[in-house]
Amino acid sequence: MPAYGILLFSLAVGFISCSSTYADASREKLLLDPQWRFHQGDPDDAGEIFKFVPNESDLMKQGEGSEAKDAAIRPTLPDLVKENTGGALSFVKQSFDDSSWRLLNLPHDYAIEQEFREKDNNNKGHRHLDRKDSSGIGWYRKSFDLPASDDGKSLTVQFDGAYRNAMVWFNGHCLGRKSSGYTSFTYDLTPYANFGGKNTLVVRTDAASDEGWFYEGAGIYRHVWLIKTSPLHVGQWGTYVTSKVDGSKATVNVETTVNNDAGASAQAKIVTTLLDASGNAIGKAESPLQVDAKGKQVLNQSIAVDAPHLWSPETPYLYKVVSTIEKEGKPVDIYETPIGIRTVVFDAKEGFSLNGQHRFIKGVCNHQDFAGVGSAVPDRIEQYRVQMMRKMGCDGWRMSHNPPNPELLDECDRQGMMVMDETRRFGKYPEPMSDLETMIRRDRNHPSIVIWSLGNEEMGLQTKPAGAEIVKVTQALAHQLDPSRMCTLAQNHAEDKEGFVTVLDVIGINYLRLWGSMDKIHAAHPDWRFITSEEASTVTTRGQYFDDYNRAYKSSYDVPGNTPGWGTTAEGWWKHYQTRPWVGGAFVWTGFDYRGEPTPYKWPNISSHFGIVDTCGFPKDNYYYYKAWWTKEPVLHLYPHWNWNKVEHRTVRIKVSGNSEKTEVLFNDQTQGKRKLSPEGVEFPPFLFSPGSLTVKAYQGGAVVASKTIPITESTSLTTNLDPVATPASTSPGAPQYDPTHPDTALNTNTVFTNQPVQIPKDQVTISVVNEPIDIWAQSNCDEVELFVNGESKGRVKVAPNSHAEWDKIPFVPGSIEAKGYKDGKLVLSEKIETTDEPAEIRLKSNRADLLADKEDIALVTVDSFDAKGRFVPTAGNEIKFSIKGPGKIMGVGNGDPSCHESDIEPHRSLFNGLAMVIIQTTGEAGTVELTAAGDGLKPATIAIPVKAATPRPSIP
Ligand code: GAL
Repeated sequence: MPAYGILLFSLAVGFISCSSTYADASREKLLLDPQWRFHQGDPDDAGEIFKFVPNESDLMKQGEGSEAKDAAIRPTLPDLVKENTGGALSFVKQSFDDSSWRLLNLPHDYAIEQEFREKDNNNKGHRHLDRKDSSGIGWYRKSFDLPASDDGKSLTVQFDGAYRNAMVWFNGHCLGRKSSGYTSFTYDLTPYANFGGKNTLVVRTDAASDEGWFYEGAGIYRHVWLIKTSPLHVGQWGTYVTSKVDGSKATVNVETTVNNDAGASAQAKIVTTLLDASGNAIGKAESPLQVDAKGKQVLNQSIAVDAPHLWSPETPYLYKVVSTIEKEGKPVDIYETPIGIRTVVFDAKEGFSLNGQHRFIKGVCNHQDFAGVGSAVPDRIEQYRVQMMRKMGCDGWRMSHNPPNPELLDECDRQGMMVMDETRRFGKYPEPMSDLETMIRRDRNHPSIVIWSLGNEEMGLQTKPAGAEIVKVTQALAHQLDPSRMCTLAQNHAEDKEGFVTVLDVIGINYLRLWGSMDKIHAAHPDWRFITSEEASTVTTRGQYFDDYNRAYKSSYDVPGNTPGWGTTAEGWWKHYQTRPWVGGAFVWTGFDYRGEPTPYKWPNISSHFGIVDTCGFPKDNYYYYKAWWTKEPVLHLYPHWNWNKVEHRTVRIKVSGNSEKTEVLFNDQTQGKRKLSPEGVEFPPFLFSPGSLTVKAYQGGAVVASKTIPITESTSLTTNLDPVATPASTSPGAPQYDPTHPDTALNTNTVFTNQPVQIPKDQVTISVVNEPIDIWAQSNCDEVELFVNGESKGRVKVAPNSHAEWDKIPFVPGSIEAKGYKDGKLVLSEKIETTDEPAEIRLKSNRADLLADKEDIALVTVDSFDAKGRFVPTAGNEIKFSIKGPGKIMGVGNGDPSCHESDIEPHRSLFNGLAMVIIQTTGEAGTVELTAAGDGLKPATIAIPVKAATPRPSIP
């Protein structure tokens, strides 16, 4: 293919409107979401046909051997397209009668519809997804007509992501299989299309095998598109736009790939126009084009911009590049690329800078699920999720651990969120390389993305030369596809001589406490760049102020007991980085709670509680810590609630002392994790009293050497010796344990524990059941905060920068607590919390005043309860039933309770610590949607939300 080189027609053309010419171009991007038929389980005639799907672990074989050796032991896949695998199956045939299958709209996640089972994978949130009983297998069918006038066009189907092992057939032809659930994929439908007649797309997803260690969802959980173009068109993700800023000028460089699907070569012209945010054309470049039959042409053009508006979190200014292909004077394709102009630098000394200004990225990591909808998150909920984090002052989002849906990136562009976009699988074998390539080609025009992540915690490889080899190859691919950005990879351990650190552009640190000290590595290698890809991992449950082993909740205070061994309190990690500006930023694990990966408890937990907000986006108390120090807004947030006459606050206090290495406490089989033991003793965080059985264990060299089981009643108060347990002379090392009491200990998952000689244990435990006084905290950026309990001052305390105010062990007396915040000696904020009566009425509040009748718009309605005196009841747990009238439907419900096993989709939900959420989606007509909420003994509530007429996005009905 001859290259045309760079043709530069740089021109500032003032305010020319381009819109009039666009109507003639034939590109259509149609949503293929509506009206699919869905069925779980394979047809009887499937037999062994899907047996070829390899085990992920076999497919991923790579390591210290050569790539050729690894490839030889990986399974060879059949050529599905050539063999038309599955083409003859009943479900695939066009004539199949699917009318009895469920009718639904995409995006759809069938994982949230499955039952919770204790024995199912807790990392996956205990949802039952199995291949044996078909719960893991989903079949989707969609039939639609194509007009005869489409004949001659090029037709592409684009899946933004389907979980997982998605096989696709069109009119009975197998188009292929995409194993990753997170990678967008496309197929050319043109050769098999029935123009002027019925066409059928069939998709099978197999979500029974895992791609990650967290809740992943199941099914076609992102949008599907039908893209129609003229045969001469801009290719799939066919533009690559970068910009260079030089003083008060910028140059926008546009690389465009033009495809010609026709049988004859095409002579044409490409006109690239740059529009400002108001849609005015401010620059243009034109180049002649000659594309061979069935060929493609890559063109480079540049456009100069005077006084560019630079993109930043504070000013997320978006330009648009419009690529018009003109043939014989007529536009045959118009393709739009939103862009931002900004400069990004990661530097070993200066850390991160955007547009020449140093800043520390204040980021969060997030998985993709949300209350009520699972992983099938509608676009407007993505908008809300980004808004919630931006309001907290957060300006960074790590797509952990996979490429997201494109709409989330669009929101990050629009709302000024800087992104670390991450590929799921790490490897230099074909599948992960192609997933990485797709992520970069698809996403590289988003100004929000400031860095690529090549993976996360590759424990077997991160400190080895073989790992460095893989990084070399994957990083080179990323550089080739996008020379404008650097790469990182999140590591939970590093050596300073070998492994990823020796080759990565920017070293990704997961957890201070696993690295021990990054200062040493920085001092030894002052030319290495760093970013903290993961930090915090605090475990807090919204509205909860004591650990509760039975219901598996953590208290909400920001204390070391609320971090696992690798985690650090919000205050602890944030303070640490105040003096390390050479680190580019940090991403908190996590912004939102997510399903799966419950920590530290197991069942009945089905969700994590790592979030700064819960699965509905309801803020936990730590939200206000970050808001206080990440924004300039005055913040005063007082907690806990003052309803201790209504909820248990007797606790079980435990102190274990002795000579063994570690100790563990289990209450009713729920563990609090292991802690380092000493003769002085270790105290476990007190947990809520309930009658039950407590087991205390002592460990030496990984083996239990002493243990005692003690029944707990409300009068338990004792000190007793643990009983020695006979252990074999040699014991296996067991899993490494992290020591939460010694933040500076450098421990990593490669630590080898040697067998220790078994000692005679002298371990004992002291247990008491105590009516606990209450710790009162305020998160505030005021200079001083004064606390009043029932009107009496408990002291005015100074709030040091990046700190909080705390008054410990205040005995509960019903009444009120009140905080007053002072700045420069003046009262600026106050907050009062009263002991409430029982809930008397329900209240509903929508995040949106009105909605659009576009069949996609969403209102998130907060449900809470108030007492007869009009006070919010923060401890309410009433079950609420919902009904809806008018042009809206209930998509899902949630309450942020990490141990709630109620349905996510049925129209009822219990309040959790006072709150629940209903997700409403418009159905297409204008009018008023009315949601009514009712609960036993409560005055019901109705909220009316006007729905304004709106045109839905073009779609295939
Ligand atoms: C990290 C891991 C995350 C999550 C987190 C929980 O090590 O990268 O995916 O598991 O721990 O603290």
